[in-house]
Amino acid sequence: MSARNFLSLMDCTPAELAGLIRRGIELKDLRDRSVLFEPLKGRVLGMVFEKSSTRTRVSFEAGMIQLGGQAIFLSPRDTQLGRGEPIGDSAIVLSSMLDVVMLRTFKHSTLTEFAAKSRVPVINGLSDELHPCQLLADMQTFLEHRGSIQGKTVTWIGDGNNMCNSYIEAAIQFDFQLRISCPEGYDPSPALLAQAGERVRLVRDPREAVRGAHLVSTDVWTSMGQEEETAKRLELFAPLQVTRELLDLAAPDVLFMHCLPAHRGEEISLDLLDDSRSVAWDQAENRLHAQKALLEFLVKPAYRPA
Ligand code: CP
Ligand code: NVA
Repeated sequence: MSARNFLSLMDCTPAELAGLIRRGIELKDLRDRSVLFEPLKGRVLGMVFEKSSTRTRVSFEAGMIQLGGQAIFLSPRDTQLGRGEPIGDSAIVLSSMLDVVMLRTFKHSTLTEFAAKSRVPVINGLSDELHPCQLLADMQTFLEHRGSIQGKTVTWIGDGNNMCNSYIEAAIQFDFQLRISCPEGYDPSPALLAQAGERVRLVRDPREAVRGAHLVSTDVWTSMGQEEETAKRLELFAPLQVTRELLDLAAPDVLFMHCLPAHRGEEISLDLLDDSRSVAWDQAENRLHAQKALLEFLVKPAYRPA
């Protein structure tokens, strides 16, 4: 179908992504100055959550309301989505009533199958493979604190998961060097690593990986859907905890990011979010602003009066 989607950072050009980040900063300023800006009056976002969420749900819902529209929360538990109605059929029906749909899924193929039958834009609110909306917020946060990320060195520490895969895509699209420190057997997507080429390197030793880095980012060791592996992962990932001492090996002006929710004492030390180098709270707030820019970009503006 012809609608523009945001299933991955690769669905936009680097120039479009840069434009979204700039626009996120402008929309943040409008809100800070209490300026009413409602280009999406009458438009409706449907939000399908197969997994839990705090930030994604609230930022999309609040963002849509602030832009003049509305958002509907759709849980597979109390819609036919959870009772076996084919995803393509659901896409045809939902997209005939809604103006944009956001899905948080387990299988990434649920998103692509939905998008194939949708008449309206589809947004990836996290899948097992990717979390592109989080990267919009992360890139906005870096720009606000440190300026352009182009040519900088970023270190990912922890699981080669959906967030890590999106950092690889970000390295390609925003043109930075990425070092990934993950245990063997927990590497990110080989296809994305191959696509990124020289720009992305696996550096197993976290101390070597953070040396001179301008941004260090991590995430939970056990993602949603992997709960049965928790004990094994806790043991295996223990050497990868990000601490103040580890950040001391990075560049003096390094920033630390965590997409949240955080598990203090696991992937980060108890005190790391209190360190002045951490921008995790700004990063969380920027989900709102960056996604408002995305909604403005993807969704047709307000209806004309009759
Ligand atoms: N970072 C993030 O996506 O948070 P939620 O799971 O709370 O949406
Ligand atoms: N990797 C985590 C991210 C949560 C926002 C998960 O998929 O559970």
